[in-house]
Parts: sequence; C-alpha cells; structure tokens
Amino acid sequence: MSTKRYIVGNWKMNHSLKELDAFWSQLKSTDFTKFESNAWIAPQGIHLSKCLEMAGSGIKLGAQNCHHKLSGAFTGEASPSALKDMGAEFVIIGHSERRAIFNESHEELNLKVKTALELGLKVIFCVGETLQERNEGRVFAVNQNQIHQGLKGIDPSKLGSLLVAYEPVWAIGTGVTASPEQAEEVHHFLRELLGKFLGRNSIPLLYGGSVKPANIKDLLSKPNIDGGLVGGASLKASDFLKLVEAAG
Ligand code: 13P
Repeated sequence: MSTKRYIVGNWKMNHSLKELDAFWSQLKSTDFTKFESNAWIAPQGIHLSKCLEMAGSGIKLGAQNCHHKLSGAFTGEASPSALKDMGAEFVIIGHSERRAIFNESHEELNLKVKTALELGLKVIFCVGETLQERNEGRVFAVNQNQIHQGLKGIDPSKLGSLLVAYEPVWAIGTGVTASPEQAEEVHHFLRELLGKFLGRNSIPLLYGGSVKPANIKDLLSKPNIDGGLVGGASLKASDFLKLVEAAG
C-alpha cells in the first residue's frame, strides 16, 4: 500500500473556457500543498496551458491520452513529449473509453505506457471489466489480462511512476458505484498480481466509477484503495475540493 492518497479528476471532453474560469477562480485561494493527498487534474489537452496558468499551487495537471510515438505523421494525435513540454506531469492510458470507443489495443496501450514512462511522465494505467464480463464470472481474468498485456516489458526502474486505476466499466458515468467491498476485492487481487508480475506491491491503486463526495470516505477506508479517479464529480470545484479534503 502506498502512503499518500490520490484524487485525480478526469475531465474527459468537458468544460468550456468560461467553465474553466469559473472552476479555477473558485479554487484560486486554496493552497493544495496543505493536503496530505495528491490532487491531480487531466483537462482536455487543448486546455492544458490555460489550466496551468490558472491552477493554484499544489495541483498537478496531466493528459487523458497520448500517442506512443514522440513525433511524426499522425494527424490529430497528441505527442507525449509535446504534452510534457507544456507542463503535463502525468497521462492516463487505457481508459475504457479509449479501449471501447477508439479501439485501442493492448499492444498500442503497452507502447504508450512504455513511451510515457521513458519520457518521465507518470502513468495512470486503467483496467476494468464490463457488466457482461462480471456477470460471466470473468472479473479477475479480464483485469489480469489487461495488466499482463498492457504492462509487460516495462523498465523496472520506471515503476515508481506507475499508478493503476480499477474502473469497472459498468460503474463509469452510471451513478452506480462499486460497493467498497466489490472494489476492495479487485484491488486486493491487483495488489497481489502486480507484486507477482512486476515485483512491486506498492503501486498506488485508484478506484474509478461514480466516485462522489458522498462515497469517497467509505471507498478510501479499504486497505487497498489509495485514491479515486473521478469523472463527473471532479468538474465542480466544490466537489473536487470535498474529495481532496476527504482524502486527507
Ligand atoms: P465518473 O466518475 O463520471 O463515473 O467517471 C469515471 C471515470 O471514467 C474516470 O476516469
């Protein structure tokens, strides 16, 4: 288990410039360095520099995705080195929306993880089963396969920059949160799996899927839940602050 907790906002494709202004102006007097926990936000890539200008102290900003190559003829893609140059400190890789909607393969995700870690970005690697996979009794097999395929061959010296998020697809944006017990069961499994597979059992494990101020404390009370990867509830400054406060 890692000691520090994490609240990571994944803003997805949300927020207008006006909404960004409102979010950051509500938080400008908050010094996030006073919290024990890590407060991170991944805005849309095109808003990264604006958010860096406006964010107060103590919040790290990152990206929701990147390409696995540093540059080249990849129209419409975001280079991980360009993101890093802009000030991104982390990148989310393997979100279920990237896997399902944009057909990102295990192989592609594995390349992205390696490139981002090599560059010195922190990586939040996401795994999670669909409702059908859960109903078929394949929760552990699906998550294990995503870990094995996505995280194979990583340079062991980079493992300190790796975080893993368990995001059951059926809990994302649905208002249905996995119960703390359901989440802990998978987190415990992932802790042991990562210990065996990567030789490291201190990789921070974040839970994602309808995390809200009302349920964060119960989730974080579990021994293998080190934080939350939060979509909808991270868009509102007051809720984001409540989540960070709850994480200590
Ligand atoms: P919600 O918190 O909106 O369910 O989204 C979770 C998520 O996908 C975070 O990456």
